[in-house]
Amino acid sequence: MSDLVTLSKSGTVAIVEINNPPVNALGQAVRKGLLDAVKQAEADPEVTAIVIIGAGRTFPAGADIKEFGRPMEDPHLPDVIDQIENCAKPVVAALHGTALGGGFEIALGSHYRIALSDTRVGLPEIHLGLIPGAGGTQRVPRLCGAEMALGIMLKGTPISAQAANAAGLIDCIVESDLLDAALTYASQLTQVRRTRDETRGLTDEPAYRAALAAAENMANKRMRGQIAPLQIIACVKATLEKTFDEGRLYERDCFFDCLASEQSKGMIHAFFAERASAKVPEAGRAQPRPLNILGVVGGGTMGAGITVAALNSGLPVTMIERDDDSLKRGRTNVEKVYDRLLAKGRITHDHKASVMALYTGSTDYADLCDADMVIEAVFERLDVKREVFTQLDKVMKPSAVFASNTSYIDIDHISSATGRPNQVLGLHFFSPANIMKLLEIVVPKGVADDVVATGFALAKRLGKVPVRSGNSAGFIGNRILGKYGMCAAHMMEDGATPYEIDAAIYAFGYPMGIHAMYDLAGLDIGWDNRKSAAPTRNPAERDVQISDRICEHGWFGQKTGRGFYLYPQGARIGTPDPKVLTIIEAERALKGITPRSFSYEEIMERYMAAMVNEACEVLREAVALKPSDIDVTFIQGYGFPRFRGGPMKYADGYGLGKMLDNIRAYETEDPVFWKPSPLLVDLIAAGHTFEDLN
Ligand code: 3HC
Ligand code: NAI
Repeated sequence: MSDLVTLSKSGTVAIVEINNPPVNALGQAVRKGLLDAVKQAEADPEVTAIVIIGAGRTFPAGADIKEFGRPMEDPHLPDVIDQIENCAKPVVAALHGTALGGGFEIALGSHYRIALSDTRVGLPEIHLGLIPGAGGTQRVPRLCGAEMALGIMLKGTPISAQAANAAGLIDCIVESDLLDAALTYASQLTQVRRTRDETRGLTDEPAYRAALAAAENMANKRMRGQIAPLQIIACVKATLEKTFDEGRLYERDCFFDCLASEQSKGMIHAFFAERASAKVPEAGRAQPRPLNILGVVGGGTMGAGITVAALNSGLPVTMIERDDDSLKRGRTNVEKVYDRLLAKGRITHDHKASVMALYTGSTDYADLCDADMVIEAVFERLDVKREVFTQLDKVMKPSAVFASNTSYIDIDHISSATGRPNQVLGLHFFSPANIMKLLEIVVPKGVADDVVATGFALAKRLGKVPVRSGNSAGFIGNRILGKYGMCAAHMMEDGATPYEIDAAIYAFGYPMGIHAMYDLAGLDIGWDNRKSAAPTRNPAERDVQISDRICEHGWFGQKTGRGFYLYPQGARIGTPDPKVLTIIEAERALKGITPRSFSYEEIMERYMAAMVNEACEVLREAVALKPSDIDVTFIQGYGFPRFRGGPMKYADGYGLGKMLDNIRAYETEDPVFWKPSPLLVDLIAAGHTFEDLN
């Protein structure tokens, strides 16, 4: 037996303990150890029952994801679970932490399940582009019916032990001493009970089929283009139409189909990329500073969102606004978020009150004297920000960390307003800041390591996905967006409508196209930026002014009821606007452009080439530390389809040589905009891919 799984006895009950930190992932050695231990305990005449338990922080959290993509070695997990289910002696799975994926499937193959009350169980395979592959699709619906089973597998979000208990997925919940409780429970058992024989979830066939149809409808709409959701639905359908053994084989085939797909490779890449992005040199060299009170300056869109994110994590916030009216608005902006949740019945009045008790509002900077960190989110104007930082410098304690949520301004120009620029960094949240996971942590040259480490600690506390960025205009995300946004504008002027461009982007897997996104963010932001950049713009650069013409009508997007699209009666999804097409035609005519047609394929080839080429420059200048950080930025902040793994992962799959050939062909039309990045050229010459740089 391997060291990763140990077998011991307490009286007549065998204890099989899995010990493979940090999450007891079910790698080959664990599967083998588990199989051997169960066989040995079954063969031991003194043993009357078996308890399977995880050491450390959790019951197994699933298959070992690192093994995916390599040839699968025996024993396979479904066979191990069959061995457990076929054991002649009662087997009890004792759950704590996060019993996920293959871990939960082990529990489902066991005859009984007991859990600590704060355990969470689930089948999150969908987030990896996979389906549960060790019986989950066949066992869960047999226990709790199709509707709940499909919810667990299609959302992939773990559920509480209480919810699992109520649904019959867990038999018993205990508050403490899990092993003792499991031993007592197991010692009283005399019979095995196999989930494969359960039928209680299958009894109401019409409801079962209705749940399948609803799930199919939802998957086709909201999980467009993804393979795994439809496979999960097909497997659940199989529980009605096939025997357990046939269903299991069907599930296995579907699992391997998913595993072989580019989609699961993309999503597994995203899983590891999101963990790698938090590992930065500064956090390795220094400990974060204490963080018990947060200050937020500005209670507008971003200040309020950041405040909610912090309050939700239990962090007390002092919000500073410029006057009483603004402060009142700031507080209202915060409360509105909770009031919406109240209206939907998602939280109680008590909950809101307890969260708001952590909030203090003030117009006096001196009230920040106890704050460990302050995040500034005032107007995007250097003079206003510098004034704020001058004030902060006077009142903040010596160890305090200063952060700006600026979108574009050079952090050095802000930090020089203080006497301690090495304590100032950028924390670029995305709107809505309480929802969006991405947090760009902008690290100027002279900033202290422990200040950076504190930024990353804050991200962890708020449940954000942090990405380290150098202090370059637009940081990682907005800088690259600027470039492919221009590429989209060129295509629009050359003949593609904004609606065709958006349709191509949507078909690629984005939730919306770039023009719909501009309308959502507000076209005036880009207009302001273009106006302030005008004096320094390279005159040789192609200048598309279509969106300026739209803004000149006062059409700023959703908030004004029209932008690139029309939003009649406050509609959230826009309809094409013939007047916008007229504006575009007039601009083309002014420049003497004869419009030509663009296929979706060409639109995406150009769009991705612009994105990846600029991303290479961001890497070359060390603004991003590695390609996978750029993938994380675009998946978490810009709607890039997760199943494609991010732009850099996508480019590797598309072929870097082919992408460079495209760029060189575009360069002949517009050598100012399309300059192949030297990093891309060198990478191809060396026969490498972006993955090699990760
Ligand atoms: N396999 C391999 N490594 C894993 C892993 C897994 N299933 N789950 C987590 N890890 C690693 C992480 O990569 C990380 O490694 P690092 O320290 O080197 O970066 C470490 O474990 C800790 O993970 P987190 O930083 O994510 O720790 P958290 O405490 O924040 O979260 C967790 C723990 C909730 C378990 C989270 O890691 C998670 O969701 N893991 C994935 C769970 C999952 O998807 N399971 C299904 C796998 S597929 C499967 O089981 C197929 C089956 O049906 C046949
Ligand atoms: P906003 O206009 O909604 O809010 C700004 C707030 O700052 C207002 O409530 C204003 O009263 C307050 N304020 C102004 N001067 C102040 C001062 N001297 N002291 C205290 N409070 C003051 O602006 P928004 O959208 O929240 O943007 C704030 C910052 O966040 C900007 O730097 C912006 O570039 C950045 N940002 C904005 C994003 C967005 O999508 N809106 C996304 C990411 C960053």
